[in-house]
Amino acid sequence: MSNAATTDLLQQRYGEQHAANALNNPVIDHLLNHRSVRSYSDRALPDGTLETLIAAAQSAATSSNLQAWSVIEVRDPARRARLARLANNQRHIEQAPLFLIWLADFSRAQRIASQHYTELRAPSYLDSLLVGSVDAALAAQNAVVAAEALGLGTVYIGALRNDLQAVVDELELPPLVYPVFGLCVGYAATDSAIKPRLPQAVTLHHETYQVDAAQEQRLIGDYEALAAAFSRAQGQNTPGWSEQVINRLKDESALHGRERIGKVLNDQQLALR
Ligand SMILES: Cc1cc2nc3c(=O)[nH]c(=O)nc-3n(C[C@H](O)[C@H](O)[C@H](O)COP(=O)(O)O)c2cc1C
Repeated sequence: MSNAATTDLLQQRYGEQHAANALNNPVIDHLLNHRSVRSYSDRALPDGTLETLIAAAQSAATSSNLQAWSVIEVRDPARRARLARLANNQRHIEQAPLFLIWLADFSRAQRIASQHYTELRAPSYLDSLLVGSVDAALAAQNAVVAAEALGLGTVYIGALRNDLQAVVDELELPPLVYPVFGLCVGYAATDSAIKPRLPQAVTLHHETYQVDAAQEQRLIGDYEALAAAFSRAQGQNTPGWSEQVINRLKDESALHGRERIGKVLNDQQLALR
């Protein structure tokens, strides 16, 4: 059963109706404590930080042990500035002491196969895009958990896909590689808070996908109130959560260029069939 610290974290995550039955453990408390960080101090990272994060990343499960991902550390301030401009001018891309770009990568497999005079056909199928993207995401999330264990903050940068071709060119990516997202890492300059999530009853199904529409509507209404209180406490004047979901998904305008990634992926010889 939850102890006081875990209960507090669960309340921050879910509000008063928290998952009271959750078990507690230091690693679980650590996971519950996650929050994205978008403002970084210039404090340098301890020696060995990058190697530690990559070791954690490489320890994640990987589909068929293909290890179909790579990561690029970008240090050059000019390159950081260009990438920040491509990703909706997010200042933390230039500010964070460490900026990593996680790649789905089948080019290494092709280089291995080429030594055996073999042309790989599977990487151009959509499933391989999923395999490489899932591998990269699992690796990156392990790095996030490791960074947070070292007292660091992180934020993913999906906006790196807004102009995918420009990022492919900037990073000189060969065919069969694409950038899934970026990740800023560093010491937080300001405190950020634990952002509430949907109630478990909305997210967790049992046996099959069953929805009680009235209950779902009521629980999402409760979550709207929790999310609104969170935004107010952060001094943000954001629309309600449902409105954000609709705005983000209703048409291409909120994709900010990502509606064109299919062509870039195809040019990279990915997702062709
Ligand atoms: C794949 C992915 C891409 C993201 N891209 C961005 C981004 O470009 N900029 C940003 O500020 N946050 C980005 N985020 C962070 C989310 O906004 C954040 O995780 C979400 O609002 C929940 O907040 P929390 O991480 O503080 O709990 C991204 C998160 C994920 C998982």
